[in-house]
Amino acid sequence: MISKGKTRFFIRTFGCQMNVNDSEKVAGLLIAEGYEPAADAAAADFIFVNTCAVREKAADKLYHSLSRLKRLKADRPGLRIGVGGCVAQLEGEEILRKARHVDLLVGTHTLHRVPELLRGTTRGPVVDLDRKADAFTVPDATIAHASPVRAYVTAIEGCNHVCSFCVVPRTRGPEVNRPPDAIVREVEGLVERGYPEVMLLGQTVNAYQFEDLDFADLLARVDAVRGLRRLRFTTSHPEHVTEHFADALRDLDTVCPYLHLPVQSGSNRVLTSMRRGYDRRHYLDTIALLRDRVPDLSLTSDIIVGYPGETDEEFQETLSLAQEVGFDGLFVFKYSPRPGTTALRLADDVPDGEKSRRLQVLNEYQQRLQRARNEARVGHWDEVLVDTIQPGGVSGRTPQFRIAHLPGAGPELLGQIVPVEITAAGPNALVARLTQPIH
Ligand code: 5AD
Repeated sequence: MISKGKTRFFIRTFGCQMNVNDSEKVAGLLIAEGYEPAADAAAADFIFVNTCAVREKAADKLYHSLSRLKRLKADRPGLRIGVGGCVAQLEGEEILRKARHVDLLVGTHTLHRVPELLRGTTRGPVVDLDRKADAFTVPDATIAHASPVRAYVTAIEGCNHVCSFCVVPRTRGPEVNRPPDAIVREVEGLVERGYPEVMLLGQTVNAYQFEDLDFADLLARVDAVRGLRRLRFTTSHPEHVTEHFADALRDLDTVCPYLHLPVQSGSNRVLTSMRRGYDRRHYLDTIALLRDRVPDLSLTSDIIVGYPGETDEEFQETLSLAQEVGFDGLFVFKYSPRPGTTALRLADDVPDGEKSRRLQVLNEYQQRLQRARNEARVGHWDEVLVDTIQPGGVSGRTPQFRIAHLPGAGPELLGQIVPVEITAAGPNALVARLTQPIH
């Protein structure tokens, strides 16, 4: 039986930072109602799976996870299982038909109703996929932030873009911009509670517009919060990179020199079909503008290989764009047809083996570049915000969002920004040692 005070919950999250942030909201609401976090799924009375629908593989994870949970529930019939987020919004009650052991189904806009709906599951499965619910009704102080160092803060929910391959506008709905005062108040509260860093979130966060305030203005408002050390944001869309935005990156002290700017392809034919709203030249000009303002800007990107009709020449254009830009990090995905997207009308005609080959070519190039770049940093100084305690040391991030391991450093450094010297490097992380003085 679900009863307050004794019940333990466990949340499994798939997908992006917004999903992580949604789970933090659900966890906070459950804690506020007297539920306790469980160490793992086996120790929980309520298991909530927060899902991602962006690629088929991501969506499949829900069903893998549910089949494991079925065995758990067979042993403990009192166990309640909830499914929420993007796959729930997309597939709806189909999930209950495929997995009869699911007790609760909530979409992307009804996550804040989980505690209340959970109580109703004693009478059978409960479904709430209401798209009109206000997603911002979770009080700031209730959110159970997973990291004690970097707090996610919602700036925009949903997305107004119409990229041909992307399911997100369908799962999360159109853009809703959160009022700047609410964002600033949340950041002030986080800084008071000791957070050195916040990351503003939105599917296209730099599209932010509230009355006559744009994203650069929002950054300036948040930057002005006293005591905040580092400000990050994700994900940005190339179409919304303006001079005003580039100037803000240069001028605002807390804003880190790091930008995730998905390009998706280097081919104009593919970019047009994807309805990205820019071409190769415009993307490269955007990078030039950003680097002019912030010469040490670290840039990462997303790329889709094997988009419908992508020829080898078109793939070579993507590779040459990656070489021309020289990204600091790259996330490469094989195209995956998604329900309700316009690209679904196009034949998924690049064979899987060829998609894998293209993915590997890009990843191998990128790994070599990152290794060389990171090795060139050995002997240099940097500043690391320590965010993780690890066996035998700690780790954190440089302003450019590079991971740095500090072997031998103590857990008391958690949340501190420490000066370091880089001593070794691999493609995906740096190794560093503390230099004096620590402040
Ligand atoms: N297939 C493959 N990758 C996709 N992405 C989004 N939709 C798809 C899809 N249908 C990738 C894009 C996006 C990232 C979050 O996921 O590169 O930027």
